[in-house]
Amino acid sequence: MAKLNRIITNVYLKAAAVGHRTLVIVLVEACMIVVSAALSFVLRLNHLPNGSQFLAGIVLLVSVRMVFLWRYNLLRGWWRYTGFDEALDLAKATGLGTAVFFLLYSIVVRIAGSGFGWPVSVYFIEALLTAAFLAAGRATSRKAANLSGRLDRIASTRLLLVGAGDAGRRLLKELNRKGSGFRAVACVDDDSTKQGIPFEGSKVEGTLEDIPEIARRFDAQEIWIAMPRATSSQMNRIVKICAETQLPFKSMPRFADIVNGNLVPQVRQVSTSDLLGRDPITADLKSVRDHIEGKRVMVTGAAGSIGSELCWQLLGYAPKELVCLDQSETGIFYLELKQRDRACSLPVSYCVADVSNAQRMRRIIHEHQIEIIFHAAAYKHVPVMETNVSEAVYNNITAFERLLDTAEDCGVESFVMISSDKAVNPTNVMGTTKRIAELVIASRPSPKMECVAVRFGNVLGSNGSVVPIFQEQISRDNEITITHPDIKRFFMTIDEAVSLVLQAFTVGTNGDILVLDMGEPMKIVDLARNLIRLSGKTEKDVQIRFVGLRNGEKLKEELFYESEQVWQTSCHKVLRTRSTVRRWPELSRLLKALALLVETGSDEELKFAMKAIVPEYDVQELNAPGYPTRRDSYKTKSAAAPNASTSIQ
Ligand SMILES: NC(=O)c1ccc[n+]([C@@H]2O[C@H](COP(=O)([O-])OP(=O)(O)OC[C@H]3O[C@@H](n4cnc5c(N)ncnc54)[C@H](O)[C@@H]3O)[C@@H](O)[C@H]2O)c1
Repeated sequence: MAKLNRIITNVYLKAAAVGHRTLVIVLVEACMIVVSAALSFVLRLNHLPNGSQFLAGIVLLVSVRMVFLWRYNLLRGWWRYTGFDEALDLAKATGLGTAVFFLLYSIVVRIAGSGFGWPVSVYFIEALLTAAFLAAGRATSRKAANLSGRLDRIASTRLLLVGAGDAGRRLLKELNRKGSGFRAVACVDDDSTKQGIPFEGSKVEGTLEDIPEIARRFDAQEIWIAMPRATSSQMNRIVKICAETQLPFKSMPRFADIVNGNLVPQVRQVSTSDLLGRDPITADLKSVRDHIEGKRVMVTGAAGSIGSELCWQLLGYAPKELVCLDQSETGIFYLELKQRDRACSLPVSYCVADVSNAQRMRRIIHEHQIEIIFHAAAYKHVPVMETNVSEAVYNNITAFERLLDTAEDCGVESFVMISSDKAVNPTNVMGTTKRIAELVIASRPSPKMECVAVRFGNVLGSNGSVVPIFQEQISRDNEITITHPDIKRFFMTIDEAVSLVLQAFTVGTNGDILVLDMGEPMKIVDLARNLIRLSGKTEKDVQIRFVGLRNGEKLKEELFYESEQVWQTSCHKVLRTRSTVRRWPELSRLLKALALLVETGSDEELKFAMKAIVPEYDVQELNAPGYPTRRDSYKTKSAAAPNASTSIQ
């Protein structure tokens, strides 16, 4: 009997694997019913019934049984997916089937004559045998399926899935296929209605907060985040929780990739906004369009990170003409390549020029009748500028001043200077040059041209910023180097920063220093950790090494001076500041002195002259014994300029 059962089960399994699963199951189960009925006669009467007696009953029996098996959903699927419930259904289907068959066949026997009757005990034996065959067949099929699955499962990686939504479901369907190499041992989801429900062979075991406990309990080896529509703040929260487990985790590809079957367990390219821990800032596009549409606009430093994004976004506001200007010929070449498609219907000019060349700038501004200038051309790398002081002063101050004068002469209406949070209480040359440029904007009388400065913190992913550097270090499985465990910075994505620069331009009035609200500063070490984990690696793969603060580097940047008054503008992420600044004649005189030193002065002399303009400049050499203190140096210079006074512009 066991042998027979095995043969039937093998046929059952093989046939089912071929396809047309329901038809195969119907046929196999019908065979089992026929064999059960025949065996019942043998067991009861020691011989098979005569043909007509047997056949008359068997057709009706199989039909009735099929109806009840169908009614209890037992004609499809494999038992490996279910358990006790299906066993109960099987018992009900067999019991009810026997009862109905008994009633119907009794009527048949009454009509056809007693020669067709079946002994009552045969009904019972047949019911038991049928139930046993059906159960054994299905149980064996489950065992066989489990056995083949178990080998798979032993070798597969145990996953904890985050997100029991559509993406997670599709993902698990793929993973449940034989040979995927991965197996979800548990799911988590914050939706309270999903708690405890079976989910594609797994189960929702808790919420996101439970990830560390569930990962431990189920001995998960990896965490996969299947939430392609998660916002940055959600993603950041998930990343933080996953980080506690010390397990590698991956963010799954976008929904479309899952649908398209691109399910190699690839890590979604970590978007810089994923690292921010907040949702992206959106800008009021209409007000920007009102100010840009139909205008002739120039962007200096157009090949740089900020400048190129400015050009890109400006093209979306239909300027009459866009002039992209940079001293880097290669940079301009690539910018033109990148913008070719977007700019096809607009007049865009690409100029290689140095903004310090007043003659060339005059010609370009004149020729293109420029009305608005976004000035993003500058040197920005703090350590490099520490050892190239005169270049920093020349490019970020002298060249900038020249450009301002030229622009005003040529009838430019608006001028936006890109500043940096390093301009606040600067500790380095670069930051001090940006502060001086801000002071020029705030102090310089400019009756014909509206000048504003826009100050903001670090831009994620910009040239030379930590993110591309960390990404490269991670991809080489190298260590990540960070200067200090407590170093913090304000961060925005490039498109956020630039869209707010454009907004600031629309709300600014002459002399404003506008500051972008960057939210809370973020520890660089946290950013590095997020980046490591979002790249699917652990801190065991990529170690973090602290190398000490560099010259001129601060632990924490600030966005405002204490003395600055801050006002809200109509754009809630852009703040207007004003403070007491020197009158222009005095500032102008100090600037001329500084400009003279560019040619001949030493680094110390240049720094001293900068400190005279920016008393908050905290420069180590000048604080050393032998040099006047910050306060003294300011007093010294003020004393040298008896007319010096302060005024609010
Ligand atoms: N990137 C940031 O995180 C960030 C944050 C806040 C403020 N900023 C400020 O934004 C400005 C631009 O930064 P970025 O990240 O785009 O720098 P970047 O180095 O990527 O780009 C600067 C561009 O200016 C060009 N340039 C420099 N001097 C020039 C000159 N004399 N004439 C013509 N072109 C010149 C360079 O060739 C370069 O293409 C800087 O003033 C910087 O301080 C940058």
